Amino acid sequence: MPTIRFLGHAAFQITEGDDDVLIDPFLTGNPQAEAAGLSADELSPTAIVLTHGHDDHVGDTPALAQRTGATVYSSFEVCNWLGEKGVQSLEPGNPGGGIDASFGRVDFTPAFHSSSSGGVYLGQPMGVVLRIGGVTIYHAGDTALFTDMKLIKELHAPDVAILPVGDRFTMGPGHARIAAEWIGAKVTIPCHFGTWPLLTDDLSAFTPAGTRVEKLKAGASIGV
Ligand code: NI
Ligand code: MN
Repeated sequence: MPTIRFLGHAAFQITEGDDDVLIDPFLTGNPQAEAAGLSADELSPTAIVLTHGHDDHVGDTPALAQRTGATVYSSFEVCNWLGEKGVQSLEPGNPGGGIDASFGRVDFTPAFHSSSSGGVYLGQPMGVVLRIGGVTIYHAGDTALFTDMKLIKELHAPDVAILPVGDRFTMGPGHARIAAEWIGAKVTIPCHFGTWPLLTDDLSAFTPAGTRVEKLKAGASIGV
């Protein structure tokens, strides 16, 4: 069974046997990661999964991928852009598709958001569904609440849902409560809140029924 470790903001590390998968590994400049003493230098991923091209999600990916040779799974545009930055091993996809991966499988889902860096358009923002060690983990990326989250439950039945809850750029806590109930995972992990003053850290409205909420501090892990 995999271990899920929160690295601050929207960054997660999922480990299972020899597989060490990072989602949205933004550590350098991430106040939550830095306060917890976490550094990209200490990470040695075998794979990196990116939901979209914003800097607070791509983060340390170019340096990590070049140091470790980890394969990056993301949108067609994000992968092309990383290739121009010298990343060698790239697996592009788009929403609705999936890729059999070293660790299991990644499926790309819709997300309602944007995706760019420094004025460069970087394709569709996405959520990702990882299958690893017999567990299905949905990281919603940055997104609004949308009713097709019910379809994600129907298609993928996630065991774990990782949801942004910080408002302004994504769902806030009230909408994320509805998302968590629609997805109905056994465990729901809130993220993308309180990183900066623009993102709320008041989760008092995030009270979904029918799921166990695991609010992790940066650096903390849970087994699922
Ligand atoms: Ni974003
Ligand atoms: Mn973001």
